Amino acid sequence: MDIHITLHGRRDLTGQIYAQLRAGIIEGRLAANARLPSTRDLAVQLGVSRKTALDVFERLIAEGFLRTRAGDGTFVADGLARLPSVRPEPVSARARATGIWRRMPERMTMPMPPAHETLDCDFKGGATDKTLFPYDAWRRCLNQALRMQARTGGGMASYRDPGGEQELRLGIARYLAFSRAVVCNWQDVLVTQGAQQALDLLARVVIQPGDVVAVEEPGYPPARALFAALGARIAQVPVDGEGIIVKKLPRNTRLVYVTPSHQFPLGMPMSLDRRVGLLEWAAKRGAVIVEDDYDGEFRFEGRPVESLKSLDRAGLVAYVGTFSKTLFPDLRLGYVVPPATLSEPLRNAKQVCDWHSCMLTQTALGAFMLNGEYAKHLRRMHKWYAERRAVLIARLTGDLAPWFEPLPATAGIHLVARLAAPWREDDVVAAARGVGRDLRHSRVLCRPADAARRAARLWRHERRGDRARHDAARGAHAEAARLALDRRLPCRTKGFAAGFFFK
Ligand SMILES: Cc1ncc(COP(=O)(O)O)c(C=O)c1O
Repeated sequence: MDIHITLHGRRDLTGQIYAQLRAGIIEGRLAANARLPSTRDLAVQLGVSRKTALDVFERLIAEGFLRTRAGDGTFVADGLARLPSVRPEPVSARARATGIWRRMPERMTMPMPPAHETLDCDFKGGATDKTLFPYDAWRRCLNQALRMQARTGGGMASYRDPGGEQELRLGIARYLAFSRAVVCNWQDVLVTQGAQQALDLLARVVIQPGDVVAVEEPGYPPARALFAALGARIAQVPVDGEGIIVKKLPRNTRLVYVTPSHQFPLGMPMSLDRRVGLLEWAAKRGAVIVEDDYDGEFRFEGRPVESLKSLDRAGLVAYVGTFSKTLFPDLRLGYVVPPATLSEPLRNAKQVCDWHSCMLTQTALGAFMLNGEYAKHLRRMHKWYAERRAVLIARLTGDLAPWFEPLPATAGIHLVARLAAPWREDDVVAAARGVGRDLRHSRVLCRPADAARRAARLWRHERRGDRARHDAARGAHAEAARLALDRRLPCRTKGFAAGFFFK
């Protein structure tokens, strides 16, 4: 191992080397049990005598910072990791993030799962059931991709096409034409790092700081956060049972972000009438529509509704898809089929941002799609999720009906239930967590002002009653929630999230 030590002049060489090695150990840059070079090598590396190196090691060994193992070498001692750093990080007011990143409210980003937490039933969104993934088939595709990687480029490793690997783009184009009625060529598909990067690239090429971007309210916080981070003025447009309310869109909207197959988070599909209305509105105003079809592959009732992309006659719809819900989110693969006019700018934006997505996983996924494994996996998952969904809905509309009211959703792998009893959402989420079930909190899904208003209204109701009765009622509600969630909601519903909203 080479150790970076800087010597200033030739005075007190032992002291200089000793101080730097000691600081490296205390600050954790030299990890516990790391092997040090021999005194001979260290002396050569630093251009000092062997005796100087020996003196330094002896002193550090005597102080317990280093230890020797006969015939094996010298190592950093164990148990020093807990020592506090002696050198505080320098802080400069000038190395500051810009305002938007300093002010980014917590609700804008999705909560990360606490480390090492084991929940026996996880209802929160953003997760798929990995235990049902066909790892053997995936391994074969990865091996095939590795062999292909070794063969390409005549032995030279090089950058790849920013648009993505051809096999994967072909697999996606065929899948979209067959399953989602989105007809495109493989060249029209741009592979991204999940849907989130597709939104990022689209926003980069379409909007300028100060432009108005309309999002659904309630809606998908990471999309809203992204557009805001790029300097857009966010217009939160309410949704009703048919989707975004088109007549509430600001006239000067440059980009509209919608989730028409399965409104996030409420779950209803956008009605055909509303789809046509949105397309007509966008054509009149020249606004770009971003259609996020994040989990529409899982449709459980009714006939498929046409995607906005397939109805688009004005060339204004960018169709965004992801493998986060059908495979798993940590794969970080998604795609966009943009209007033709945006193809080249998007490809350039992708290249500027990260050149291209990982070739290995792209090639493996391309093979997985083209050899029929993806379709097989989707069929299997559809069956599983349909069963779990049926169990969850049966309980929510059956013995849990006094407490919860599920909102109608025909597609997707989560559903939302309103609280039918006058509970505080915090109590329910906490009670659920207490018995190992994680529920998505509505606070992350709607504007804090809305959540605060609802909470304030509830508090006013509660304050009117006498305090003791109110406390007893709250305790009873929390207990009821605990019992309901403990005994009655089956663990097999993993993969579905139930968000809760105030009445
Ligand atoms: C509305 C919506 N869009 C997209 C995604 C997936 O994003 P990504 O592909 O970046 O993982 C999710 C995941 O929960 C989502 O809820």
